[in-house]
Amino acid sequence: MSTTPSPKRVLLLTRTATSVVPLGELARLRASAASLPGVSDAAFAFSEEGTPSLRAVLMDWAADDMPILIVPLIVPADPAFENWLKRTVARWQAEQGGTWPPIGLAPFPGNPELMTMLVAGLITSSAITPVEGAKAAGMDGSVVPAQKRRVLVCMGGPCNSVGASVIWGHLRNEQKRLSLRTAGEGMMSAKTSCLGPCSLAPVVQVWPEGTLYGGVDEAGIDRIVATHLLGGEIVEELAYAATGVKQRLR
Ligand code: FES
Repeated sequence: MSTTPSPKRVLLLTRTATSVVPLGELARLRASAASLPGVSDAAFAFSEEGTPSLRAVLMDWAADDMPILIVPLIVPADPAFENWLKRTVARWQAEQGGTWPPIGLAPFPGNPELMTMLVAGLITSSAITPVEGAKAAGMDGSVVPAQKRRVLVCMGGPCNSVGASVIWGHLRNEQKRLSLRTAGEGMMSAKTSCLGPCSLAPVVQVWPEGTLYGGVDEAGIDRIVATHLLGGEIVEELAYAATGVKQRLR
């Protein structure tokens, strides 16, 4: 006798809106997931750059007690990402408070058997296209950017393990939402490898001052945007000056 699965919401999760899965394909997968038995609702979200963000969808769905299943569309499987995801969701739950619905995490699609079939299918695909005719990079020249400020988000190991990717995604989404590239003196952003003070992870540095910010979360990014990028003032509570001695997060 078959049993009807209990209803749940399904969240299709990928990393960025621009480089992993095209938005149209995600919309198609979302509609397909929503039509499955036991699925009351489905959405897609991005753990890094792109909207809706994972945080936004989870905060929205946290308001009632319908169980949530996160389905990572990330290939190959990435244990570090899984650890990051669990820690970050736990942090958001603590920040938000209240009672959250149960949240499950589906297996990553990159198990060896599936990957072997996928690679074989790709090699024999009828949709192979020629790689030719592309212009060499820089042939048309480049405009030197006029933006005064540069925000570097550290993606080194210690910073990554405490949520640097979600900080990066939040910064990029706010950069787009607030048109920060052209607002005020203008800003640009970039990921970087280790900036040095790993004990202060996640670390963000703002130039031209070279201000190092530690323990930055989404609220910290909001303050850096409003006060430093748009207001020109350093956020002293999050900033760590070069003192020559070891510092810990305050
Ligand atoms: S890994 Fe981020 S400061 Fe070292």
